[in-house]
Amino acid sequence: MSKNPTLHFYDFHPALADFKTEVQHGLSLPQKQLSPKFFYDLNGSQLFDRITELPEYYPTRTEIKILQAHGDAMIEWLGEECLLLELGSGSSQKIRVLLDALKPAAYMPLDISKQHLLDSAHALASDYPDIDVHAACADYSSDFKLPYCPQHLTRAAFFPGSSIGNFEPADAQALLMRVHRLLAPGGMLLIGVDLKKDPAVLHAAYNDAQQVTAAFNLNLLSRMNRELDADFELDHFSHYAFYNPHQGRVEMHLYSHCQQQVNVAGQVFEFAQGDTLHTENAYKFTISEFQALAARAGFCSKQVWTDEQSLFSVHCLQASAAKL
Ligand code: AVI
Repeated sequence: MSKNPTLHFYDFHPALADFKTEVQHGLSLPQKQLSPKFFYDLNGSQLFDRITELPEYYPTRTEIKILQAHGDAMIEWLGEECLLLELGSGSSQKIRVLLDALKPAAYMPLDISKQHLLDSAHALASDYPDIDVHAACADYSSDFKLPYCPQHLTRAAFFPGSSIGNFEPADAQALLMRVHRLLAPGGMLLIGVDLKKDPAVLHAAYNDAQQVTAAFNLNLLSRMNRELDADFELDHFSHYAFYNPHQGRVEMHLYSHCQQQVNVAGQVFEFAQGDTLHTENAYKFTISEFQALAARAGFCSKQVWTDEQSLFSVHCLQASAAKL
C-alpha cells in the first residue's frame, strides 16, 4: 500500500543578505565580477530550464542519456535505503531517472532558488509517495549542516549538470571536501562533469541561436534592478561568451557598449565602453583532470561513464576514510 506524500521544507534563507554586499564588492573590482549563483532567482531558474532544452546545449540531454544507459550500475554503487542528497537540484529532472530503481529511504534536494525548489519538491513528493522528501533551500557553496540526517541511514550524494565546473578550481576542491564531510567515509558521490572538446561545440552551447543564454545572463541586471534598486539599462549591455583554452573554461560576461554610470543600492559604479562584468566560468575537464581534483578532496574514483562522442562524463566517487 502506498503512503501519503511527505514533504519537509527547511529554509536557510541563502543569498539574500549577501546579494547586496557581494554585488557592491564585485562591481568595485578592476575586472567587475559576480558569482554565478546569483543567476538563480525564479526567472533565472526558469531561463536555465529552457537552456537545458536548447539544441545547442548538449550537457543536459547527454547526461540524461548516460544516466538512462548506466543507471543500474550507478544504483548498485549508491546502495538502497540511503539518504540521497542532491546538490543544486533545480527542476529535479535527472534524479527521476534513478529514483524508480534506487528507492532511497529519503531524498534531500538542496537548492538556492526557493520557489523553484518548492515547486519541484512538491511534484516529486506526489509522484514518489514512498520516498520522504526533505527539501532544503540553502547555498551549498558555503558551510551548512544537514537539517535531517538519521544515523541509521547511509548517505549518498548526486551532483549532476557539471555545476562543479562553475566553481574556481580551489573552490571546487573545497566544495568537494564539504561534500566529503557530509557523507560518512565510504559514502558515494555521483557527479556529472562536462568534458573538454572542440571549442566550436562549446561556443555554440553558450551562444544559442534563440538567445536564451543571453536572456539568462542579462537577467542578472534585471535582478539587481528589482532587488537592489539598481538602474541598469539592459540594452546598454550584451551577452558575451567564449571558450578560453588557456584556462580550460567557457567565460560569460556582460559587455558594456558605452561609457555609463550605474546606481546600485545607493552606490555609483562606472563602466567604460568595452568594460565587462564577468558573470560565470564553466570549467571543462578531461577525465583524469577531474579524477585528480576529486582525489585532492579525498574521493577515490570507482567508475566513470561517458557518451559515445565523449561530450560528458558521470563519475562515481567514494569518500575515503582519511580525515581532511
Ligand atoms: C549550471 N551550469 C552547469 C551551467 C553551465 O553550463 O555552466 C550554467 C549555464 N550557463 C550558461 N548556460 C548554462
